[in-house]
Amino acid sequence: MPLRICFIASEVAPLAKTGGLADVAGALAKYLHLAGHDIRVFMPLYAQIDRSSLEVWPVEFLQDVSLRLGTQVYRFSVHTARLPGAATMIYLIDCPALYARASIYTNDPDEHVRFIALTHAALMCCQRMGFAPQVVHCNDWHTGLAPLLLGTVFSWDRLFLQAKSLLTIHNLGYQGQFSAAQVADTGLGLQDFDYAETSQGRINPLKEGILHADHLSTVSPTYAREIQTSQYGWGLEDVLRQRTADLSGILNGVDYEEWDPRHDRHLPVHFDARQLQGKAELKRLLMQRAGLEPVATRPLIGMVSRMTLQKGFDLLFDTLPAVLAARDVALTVLGNGDARYEGFFTELQHRFPGRVVFHRGYSEELSHWIEGGADLFLMPSLYEPCGLNQMYSLRYGTVPIVRHTGGLADSVSHFDPATGKGTGIVFNDFDAGGVRWALDTALDWYAQPTLWRRIVHNGMAQDFSWRRQVAEYETLYQRMTGQS
Ligand code: ADP
Ligand code: GLC
Repeated sequence: MPLRICFIASEVAPLAKTGGLADVAGALAKYLHLAGHDIRVFMPLYAQIDRSSLEVWPVEFLQDVSLRLGTQVYRFSVHTARLPGAATMIYLIDCPALYARASIYTNDPDEHVRFIALTHAALMCCQRMGFAPQVVHCNDWHTGLAPLLLGTVFSWDRLFLQAKSLLTIHNLGYQGQFSAAQVADTGLGLQDFDYAETSQGRINPLKEGILHADHLSTVSPTYAREIQTSQYGWGLEDVLRQRTADLSGILNGVDYEEWDPRHDRHLPVHFDARQLQGKAELKRLLMQRAGLEPVATRPLIGMVSRMTLQKGFDLLFDTLPAVLAARDVALTVLGNGDARYEGFFTELQHRFPGRVVFHRGYSEELSHWIEGGADLFLMPSLYEPCGLNQMYSLRYGTVPIVRHTGGLADSVSHFDPATGKGTGIVFNDFDAGGVRWALDTALDWYAQPTLWRRIVHNGMAQDFSWRRQVAEYETLYQRMTGQS
């Protein structure tokens, strides 16, 4: 049965993206819409969103709406658009006071207000549209207060009588804490919040979501288990364990309309598992474009990543220089973030000119080139709720080297030369020895063309499509709303 779903997210591709949350929000909304559900997506109208590529029109009865949070009054208007290529309805919350900033996320003192306002605004829009959601699906700390708001500020409204809330945790490492002295910014009182936090002078939006949502999910089965342990729980393992019966792990999918080497709109050449010459040609073009020495037989490792502790770069400080000194291998890295990681790759590029290139910054186009043109893709993550690039890599015949954690463990299996089964190179321990072993193993296998072809083919045959994964969300929604 079609469901009415209110979906709230801080980033949605292709409109605004800093990482995987955007890819997931955009694709999940698209495939739920295609499955016949009435899904309405709410997100901020950031100054960064390119309106010229969108048909945006104002919602007449949602202009100049006042939202009072404490002593502040924010005025917002709402514009609708169809998600490009998907026709899903998006509601853009236009509030320049909050969203006209230099970047999507900021370190500004009102960062929490920016997303609390989004959450309030989304629920207010439902009211004014007379849209009675059966599911309110919120994502990460930014919209983690939605379940609490439904049970307090909005509880008088019969419109939400049937609404069940789902919080999807994409990353437990970001909880959005702010000072309890700023409680008025939430539109709630101190007594509404978890005493364990307020007594310490804090409010923790992600924890509030975990405590109040009807159901919780995270983006892979392994991460769902990991976050209930002290190693991965970021201090929330106890509350997560208390809610273990309501916590599901659903692996993210891939939108193969966006990420497929047979028709990728960002690539100058296309290929598939039977026609791998195209991949070789793309590697040549990528090496040329990046200014790498044009050695076709030299294995090329790619990385595309936010540069944060999560992604495991600390393991590479000693390992990569040693591997580059000992073996004939090239490396192309795209990303930005923490200065120490950016500094490391800048230095590596100077030390190994022609073999290492670091593209500091963000480029959707180049990320597709690296996915397509590299031979190997490195993701040594400290933790990884799901990870998308390893799944993209599999489809592009770019063999992933990953650590056995979270969604990496659920989507890449270690190749076994004896059986010919497996799709990548998987190491267990988060230490330099582990990643060194993985890199050496990968390079040894790359030197054996028949074996390598087998790994590449195994990976390209994998199917992580959203068309399939979306059914898991439908089953969960149905369970939550008592339809199954
Ligand atoms: P996370 O959400 O933790 O960053 P994911 O693997 O889930 O990790 O998703 C990352 C997404 O962001 C992928 O689509 C990846 O290609 C993209 N991405 C990350 N860094 C960059 C960058 N510097 N330029 C372009 N795309 C990037
Ligand atoms: C987060 C995680 C990443 C996941 C993405 C989308 O940013 O770090 O592992 O794939 O969200 O769910």
